[in-house]
Amino acid sequence: MNLETVKQDITQVLVTEEQIKKRVAELAQEIGKKYAGKDLLLVGVLKGAVMFMADLSRALEIPAQMDWMAVSSYGSGTVSSGVVRILKDLDADVLGRHVLIVEDIIDSGLTLSWLASNLEARGAASVEIVTLLRKPDAAKVEVAVAWVGFDIPNEFVVGYGLDYNENYRTLTSVGILAPAVYS
Ligand code: PRP
Repeated sequence: MNLETVKQDITQVLVTEEQIKKRVAELAQEIGKKYAGKDLLLVGVLKGAVMFMADLSRALEIPAQMDWMAVSSYGSGTVSSGVVRILKDLDADVLGRHVLIVEDIIDSGLTLSWLASNLEARGAASVEIVTLLRKPDAAKVEVAVAWVGFDIPNEFVVGYGLDYNENYRTLTSVGILAPAVYS
């Protein structure tokens, strides 16, 4: 869906569809070089990472498998709770495998910091993170992220997988949600 469709709900376009496409292609090139010849497992974090995973995985020119986890952090509000719970675990065993966590956004960093440690503890050969978006000003914990698509301001953003109350995920670009929508 185009931002034009819900333009009254969006105060500013932060990342356009074209910018996302270009950056995803660049990231795929870098990731492809890093994992050439390795057994790569892409781990997507539901539901926000679905769009990024779909585009990034198809732009990769090396073989990779895909698996998914669902963890809870936000609930239905706009502020991270810090409580991480596994709602759906991986099907794959990560023991001895090179894991790349694919995320839509790092906000406080609490989810990813917990998830990376969790997958390392399962005996993965390596655990790295690629995130499309990161909010440096919202960080509560430092997370070692190998690849970042875009650093963005500490605003409530939706689109390209990111939601507010399950809405706006299907937008092709990323925009700032008008405060009137959630206040
Ligand atoms: C979002 C996002 C990350 C997490 C980041 O997921 O996809 O997983 O929050 O926040 P943090 O850095 O503060 O921990 P959310 O819980 O909203 O679920 P969703 O992907 O299903 O929308």
